[in-house]
Amino acid sequence: MREWKEFNQSGSRRVIVTKELPGDRWLEILAKADCLVEICTSTDILSAGEIEEAIGNRCDGAIGQLTEEWGHELFAALKAAGGKVYSNYAVGYNNVNVDAATTQAIPVGNTPGVLTETTAEMTIALTFAAARRVVEADRFMRGGQFRGWLPTLFLGELLWRKTVGVIGAGRIGAAYARMMVEGHKMNLIYYDLYRNKALEDYVAAYGEFLKSHGEEPVSCTRAGSMEEVLREADVLSLHPVLDETTHHLVNRERLSLMKENAILVNTSRGPVIDETALVAHCQRHPDFRVGLDVFENEPDAKPGLAELDNLVIVPHIASATIWTREGMATLAASNVAGILMGYPAWQEKDISLFLTNNPPKAAPSIVNAKEVGLPIYTE
Ligand code: DGY
Repeated sequence: MREWKEFNQSGSRRVIVTKELPGDRWLEILAKADCLVEICTSTDILSAGEIEEAIGNRCDGAIGQLTEEWGHELFAALKAAGGKVYSNYAVGYNNVNVDAATTQAIPVGNTPGVLTETTAEMTIALTFAAARRVVEADRFMRGGQFRGWLPTLFLGELLWRKTVGVIGAGRIGAAYARMMVEGHKMNLIYYDLYRNKALEDYVAAYGEFLKSHGEEPVSCTRAGSMEEVLREADVLSLHPVLDETTHHLVNRERLSLMKENAILVNTSRGPVIDETALVAHCQRHPDFRVGLDVFENEPDAKPGLAELDNLVIVPHIASATIWTREGMATLAASNVAGILMGYPAWQEKDISLFLTNNPPKAAPSIVNAKEVGLPIYTE
């Protein structure tokens, strides 16, 4: 039996939250919506059975984690307990069976917008940690192996003016692309089912700016295939959503198309890469370097992965800044409170108003708003 703690015990609506969240604002939002908030204080991942038990006979709403599978049974249990809303504490919601929630007429929320720059910055950190062998060198230094400067010590890759490839040019992929293009004057090649015209225009304008300063411009190419990006990129960063079409998107064949000294970074979802194939590829190509924030079977890593020197690995922390994690809590709570208060769904991409002291009377991000027939916010 897990420990749960309560907040706002006099609240007439019951909301369960399967992990402690940072900050206080989210609690105030739920209290203002007359919610008793029950929070699981365990850091262990809850099983579906444990969540069902926590839902119990009466539960108006729930905030869950990307580590939990929210499927038919949980949404049926939530509905039977009088549940009206679920929010994931994440922008990604591949752990949620949205159709199952829709079948129960339960709106599903997520937390976009507040992770964009934070995740892009971590993607940059992994890129350079891999390219410049920062972790290997740190280990070497701490191990007392440094005997003095050498011309050949830890040679890495210069990324300046090379080509950055991005798969999935949504919010985070585009923010990373801009940081790499602007900061390191890299040419961009991207693959996405949808054209990102704003990104293309941005890179073109930056190219003009460089020209006006007597410098070589940068370019932006929307590739016709993912393979084109794999062949061209000196650095490849993955930002697709995870679904059946992107599972093992990067597999043995596709890895073999990449440059032998390329850098591959993944801050999206682990199963986008066939991790076993990646381990084999890294073993065969020591100059191929990788930065990973996410893993195929979290929290485990595939055999051999942790032993590779050409890999930098961190435990799914790309969105881990205080501002972002508190913002995610604010948005998840606003999704739940908004629906419980009978508010309509916000449809604008910009959710920043929800972080202010005067948020709109709307649920900020409901991914199945249309399907469950929610009214849309109009001023
Ligand atoms: C998300 O929100 O989807 C992220 O993976 C959390 O870091």
